[in-house]
Amino acid sequence: MRKKIVAANWKMNLDLNEGAELVNEIFKGLPILNENKEVVIAPPYLHLTQTAAQLAGMIDVHLGAQNCHSEASGAYTGEISASMLKSAEVEYVIIGHSERREYFKEDDAMVAKKVNQALSNNMKVIFCCGEPLSIRDANTQNAYVEKQIKEGLFHLSESQLGHIVIAYEPIWAIGTGRTASSAQAQDMHAHIRNVISIHYGTDAADEISILYGGSCKPSNAAELFACPDVDGGLIGGASLKANEFLGIINAMAEA
Ligand code: 13P
Repeated sequence: MRKKIVAANWKMNLDLNEGAELVNEIFKGLPILNENKEVVIAPPYLHLTQTAAQLAGMIDVHLGAQNCHSEASGAYTGEISASMLKSAEVEYVIIGHSERREYFKEDDAMVAKKVNQALSNNMKVIFCCGEPLSIRDANTQNAYVEKQIKEGLFHLSESQLGHIVIAYEPIWAIGTGRTASSAQAQDMHAHIRNVISIHYGTDAADEISILYGGSCKPSNAAELFACPDVDGGLIGGASLKANEFLGIINAMAEA
């Protein structure tokens, strides 16, 4: 049975004290989750060891990173490798976020290399895809996202795909307050699952978790998570406030 996941992407927010406080607040309100449901927290790199220590012993809450480098090691000043993340007890790495694709010029080939780095260091990947507004307005979003998935993931074996979570994040919905409707999210998630099914078969497609991201809030999470192909969310702004993030976790717990 595929997992339902709510993942926090803090992006470049919160200092160490604020991060520790937020994790404490989340712990205080965390509902009991059944075994196929989990929470991921992806703070900035600097927080990882602190957050790992806070999460020690928590079975439902897992540590994530927001990025890794595409090479294993070497002269890349200021960068962080997948093996470093693994040594900091990171379990999930977010790869291919639209902000990295846009601001750091990460193309599909680089995203695919990063996926390989994370997998070869025994971490799971939250693979992000999603179209800009111009593509949505032209109604070509299905082909756009399909290409991102094929070029970022289709070099993987079926067993490697078992370590991938997909996050569909339409760029026009990120940080804008403009959420995709549950029908728009469901349509795209079903399309993604179908693309996976054609290449890897129905078992792999049934197993893969597909999260929605983009202005997900406590007020819309329940409706989004009720869609048959929406398996949770990747949360930006609302993951920075304990009560909002807990509201979204509760929506998953009850879905
Ligand atoms: P918001 O929830 O702030 O729209 O961000 C979504 C996102 O980009 C998560 O990775």
